[in-house]
Amino acid sequence: MRRLRIIGIGAGNPDHLTLQAVAALNTLDVVFLPDKGSEKGALRALREEICRRHVTRPDIRMVPLAVPKRAEAGNDYRGAVDDWHAALAEAYERLFRDHLAEGETGGLLVWGDPALYDSTLRIVEAVCARGLALDYDVIPGISSVQALAASHRLVLNGIGESVLVTTGRRLAQEGFPQNAGSVVAMLDGEQAFAAIDPAGLEIWWGAYLGAETEILASGPLAEVSEEIRRRRAEARAAHGWIMDTYLLRRSR
Ligand SMILES: C[S@@+](CC[C@H](N)C(=O)[O-])C[C@H]1O[C@@H](n2cnc3c(N)ncnc32)[C@H](O)[C@@H]1O
Repeated sequence: MRRLRIIGIGAGNPDHLTLQAVAALNTLDVVFLPDKGSEKGALRALREEICRRHVTRPDIRMVPLAVPKRAEAGNDYRGAVDDWHAALAEAYERLFRDHLAEGETGGLLVWGDPALYDSTLRIVEAVCARGLALDYDVIPGISSVQALAASHRLVLNGIGESVLVTTGRRLAQEGFPQNAGSVVAMLDGEQAFAAIDPAGLEIWWGAYLGAETEILASGPLAEVSEEIRRRRAEARAAHGWIMDTYLLRRSR
């Protein structure tokens, strides 16, 4: 049987890597390195830094994976994502058959934690459903949500209240939900925080969390929304990419 380890590597700081992840890295015969997205330079740099610092096996193999591009979603977001996952499952299956021998262990290094807005586990399930026998496990990582909370010295939930983790797309469509205490928004290319009604809301925003380039801003949404938009645009232009996350909560 082929063995696969899906390892969360943290959200941008090499020191996020847990001792469990380091131990798992050193059980690998092969590391698969997917290459994707506008932030790919940062992803690649973090993965390389982690391997340089922590992999002690001299004979470990690094195998790149060209990730197929997702088609423009149009009105059918779910359909576009399903098609993309099917293409990815096919590519991953081919890769595992070609580069991972029976009895060997491969690793996929996942940004943040594999349980949050990441397709790796769904794709690996799809690879198994296609008929490739894989024994796989998951090593948790520090997610950008945890990094956001730590950098702002925040507890995510109000006392006894709920936290909703959602996407910028949904927040823009639905506004701040009536029944949520706090909302964490990820994947917000559309800057939904600037599109919703800011009345009575506070924001804690962070970009490049955990990295040396980290930027933080917080305050009443009506007052800081413009500043965040400006700093976001400047940082994006300077780095060529941006990843940001934020918490919204009703002011007390
Ligand atoms: C595809 S999701 C991956 C999330 C990841 N699995 C995690 O646990 O953080 C990418 C989104 O995560 C957030 N994100 C990831 N890393 C970040 C960072 N270092 N700083 C700010 N946001 C980050 C952003 O909202 C970005 O759009």
